[in-house]
Amino acid sequence: MPISAYRKLSLFAAVLAAPLVNAVASQTYTWKNVKIGGGGGFVPGIVFNPSQKGLAYARTDIGGAYKLNADDTWTPLLYVLSFRYTTWNYWGVAALATDPVTPSRLYLACGGYTNSFDPNNGNILISTDSGSTFTPSKLPFKVGGNMPGRGMVQRLAIDPNSNGILYFGAGAGNGLWKSTNFGQTWAKVTSFPSVGTYAPDPTDSSGYNSELIGIAWVTFDSTSGTSGTATPRIFVGVANLGSTNIFVSNDAGSTWSAVAGQNTTYLPHKGVLSPKEKALYVSYSNGAGPYDGTLGSVFKYNISTSVWTDITPVTGSDLYFGFGGVAVDLQKPGTIMVAALNSWWPDGQIYRSTDSGATWSPFWAWGNYPDINKYYSYSDTLAPWLGIGTVDTTLGDLQIGWMMEALVIDPFDSNHWLYGTGATIQGGHNLLNWDSTHNVSLSSLADGIEETSVQALIKPGANLISAVGDIGGFFHASLTAPPAAEFMNPKWSTTADLDYAGNSPLNIVRIGTGDSTQGLQVALSSDGGQTWNQDYGAAANVSGGKVALSANADTVLWRSSTNGVLRSQYTNAFTAVPSLPSTAAIASDKLNNSIFYGAASSSFYLSTDGGVTFSVKSTLGSSTSPFKVIVNPTVSGDVWVSSDAGLFHSTNFGSSFTAIPGISQAWAIALGAPKSSGSYYAIFAAANIGGVGYFRSDDGGVNWIRIDDVAHGFGSASSNCLTGDFSTYGRVYIGTNGRGIFYGDASGTAPPPSTTVSSTTTSKSSSSTSSTTTTTSKSSSISSSSSSKSTTTSSTTTSSAPTSTGTVPAFGQCGGQGWTGGTVCVAGYTCTFSNTFYSQCIAS
Ligand SMILES: *[C@@H]1O[C@H](CO)[C@@H](O)[C@H](O)[C@H]1NC(C)=O
Ligand SMILES: *[C@@H]1O[C@H](CO)[C@@H](O)[C@H](O)[C@H]1NC(C)=O
Ligand SMILES: *[C@@H]1O[C@H](CO)[C@@H](O)[C@H](O)[C@H]1NC(C)=O
Ligand SMILES: *[C@@H]1O[C@H](CO)[C@@H](O)[C@H](O)[C@H]1NC(C)=O
Ligand SMILES: *[C@@H]1O[C@H](CO)[C@@H](O)[C@H](O)[C@H]1NC(C)=O
Repeated sequence: MPISAYRKLSLFAAVLAAPLVNAVASQTYTWKNVKIGGGGGFVPGIVFNPSQKGLAYARTDIGGAYKLNADDTWTPLLYVLSFRYTTWNYWGVAALATDPVTPSRLYLACGGYTNSFDPNNGNILISTDSGSTFTPSKLPFKVGGNMPGRGMVQRLAIDPNSNGILYFGAGAGNGLWKSTNFGQTWAKVTSFPSVGTYAPDPTDSSGYNSELIGIAWVTFDSTSGTSGTATPRIFVGVANLGSTNIFVSNDAGSTWSAVAGQNTTYLPHKGVLSPKEKALYVSYSNGAGPYDGTLGSVFKYNISTSVWTDITPVTGSDLYFGFGGVAVDLQKPGTIMVAALNSWWPDGQIYRSTDSGATWSPFWAWGNYPDINKYYSYSDTLAPWLGIGTVDTTLGDLQIGWMMEALVIDPFDSNHWLYGTGATIQGGHNLLNWDSTHNVSLSSLADGIEETSVQALIKPGANLISAVGDIGGFFHASLTAPPAAEFMNPKWSTTADLDYAGNSPLNIVRIGTGDSTQGLQVALSSDGGQTWNQDYGAAANVSGGKVALSANADTVLWRSSTNGVLRSQYTNAFTAVPSLPSTAAIASDKLNNSIFYGAASSSFYLSTDGGVTFSVKSTLGSSTSPFKVIVNPTVSGDVWVSSDAGLFHSTNFGSSFTAIPGISQAWAIALGAPKSSGSYYAIFAAANIGGVGYFRSDDGGVNWIRIDDVAHGFGSASSNCLTGDFSTYGRVYIGTNGRGIFYGDASGTAPPPSTTVSSTTTSKSSSSTSSTTTTTSKSSSISSSSSSKSTTTSSTTTSSAPTSTGTVPAFGQCGGQGWTGGTVCVAGYTCTFSNTFYSQCIAS
């Protein structure tokens, strides 16, 4: 299964926020990424600015955009936006354009999905300061940063002669759009003749593969115009298979026609202008990608003569892939490169020509079979886990990579090149050696990019352990250095969950989401997650879900995704546990080996016989979907449960629960070191406490302190996981769905308890109005052809608006349909539109 950046976007975005009744005081935290290094997911686009040396950006499909630094590292953009539930879909960057006239201008086309996975329309995010800040311009249609064909498309383009003019080629049948005011407003180009007819799988009932890919790329012929006037000639590639798929305008977009003589056999993936040659280089594939494509071609269109030439580097049985990335060396007209989109075996392939495609040389060639002559040396020091033996056991060792749609040569430095793969960015600084010695240095160059989807985190001892989508997961020997290897032996693409044994915390269980082609999906470690043994009690093709390991490490309770709840002791065959629902959240007691806990709909379940049988002990208020059960590591029977109805606490093995006041919804929860010895563990929660965010309580849940801030919202709260740290008070780790793992340490002073929300102020939501929102979450890797999508219905209750019209505190509600409260924020905060129902005071 190819690495792609695992997606489980849970579309909490559609859930309405409860209005803030009373502000929760906050404490400043310092947030940093735990370094995995190397990216960890698909990088569909890399763009160099042609006018400012060294200015380049990369876009990802679920992890935002990044800016290149002079030392080869990358800085994540989009921190400036909070990425709370209203903006999680900004992490899907479908296109990126950097302004050749005013290089400080940057545009991102953002959105998650064009099908039902994402209810929100897309945005063009406009920056005038090279990505430090952005202003969103909402589009009247959806944008799919994580849709099929997301690497084929580079659909946002700025007129190089008149940079107020932009084109955006939409997907899903929405056609070509144009802005004449630097992206602020957009209008459909009604004269453009095609919206694209190709969909990867028109029969896909999820709507994911049946969506039309649409407009693929827009390329201005800068040589056709003069500075200050709209460029007359514009080429547009469209996802049409077997019919006209490259159009041209010669009158600045007023009228359009098919480029004569084009070959429409395959889909045009890239159309790259070589201005000094007055040529357009086009790569084609028979699939939209990023995974597919078994045939393709490369053509040169000579703009001066209107002649097309087939310059495909290989033919016959050597051609078993389509083509993706195309690069031209702006300093050396005629030097071009093209990447095989997916050569799955023995490795990816890239070709280079210095004579405009007349002849080519490859990145590797067969020697005496099975020997391969690699015309490069490879370094993975920035992300050692990417290297030989760890890349992907199901594919063999792909050093060069796959899903190669982004391929660029620095316009100011012919030696500097970069390309995106399904897992990282690679490239180097001695590319001209390709033409002299035919041997270049190739490195993973994605330092700073963290775009993984994190499924679970635990920190039972000195080390953090992560379950990660697509790249397995890691034992983190360090938070600041990349891990040496992924989980190995067994190795699965996606680890779904982890747990440790309370009485012997070096004993760890992990479960995977694969089928039997990846081996059985349960593994055990007795050295804290560094090495593993297959649990042969598991059966083939049973996978996914949640896992709990008994206190003495002999019993595994597994709420699988495929076969209900299962249980195994001493690695014997797993047997069914019919008394616990197949949707249950589960946990083990951390001291008593016989005790497991479960929670499903409104019921809390207890097992006192090692998970063989469960019985209902009590009710969790009005919960319909418990999210997480956590257990005090030093007190048996001291249990917390988060759910769509809030946060619940029991100290008697679940015989009774107290609903924590003021919390209307809670997702991930975790315990960490107490503030002082003798006090209760610090409790961390992703929750709705007068607003969705991340909170900490130092007093057993009475008072809560907000610990996230406007620059750190971590995406969709309901998709994330948490773990605390039992050795460092205040520290919490947040696993995100697209931006890797963050760890936060308190750096500001904690507010006094009296200023935090109290039960009397928040529990009073007298005349409440209910709104029901259907949200969907996609919970399987999109790299598998049979992706599953679960639909959940969640209800939120919006309490009546307060009648006060005074100044609204930080993060308070300041507007929205039916809102009659204050609309003016305290100093330093601006009332910011979130959605029709909710505006919030955000730091200005
Ligand atoms: C168009 O391209 C296909 C695939 O490369 C090739 O087989 C076919 O001969 C080409 N058609 C023409 C008219 O050149
Ligand atoms: C375009 O055609 C002209 C005339 O044949 C030729 O001189 C020029 O080299 C061609 N350009 C490219 C990039 O092939
Ligand atoms: C390219 O250079 C590397 C490092 O020196 C070497 O291992 C490799 O064999 C060379 N490739 C060829 C085809 O000579
Ligand atoms: C497991 O599923 C794979 C396909 O995903 C199938 O090829 C294989 O036969 C299945 N194995 C068993 C034991 O059912
Ligand atoms: C563990 O729990 C079981 C079931 O409630 C109980 O019988 C047993 O005494 C407990 N063991 C310890 C050491 O507390």
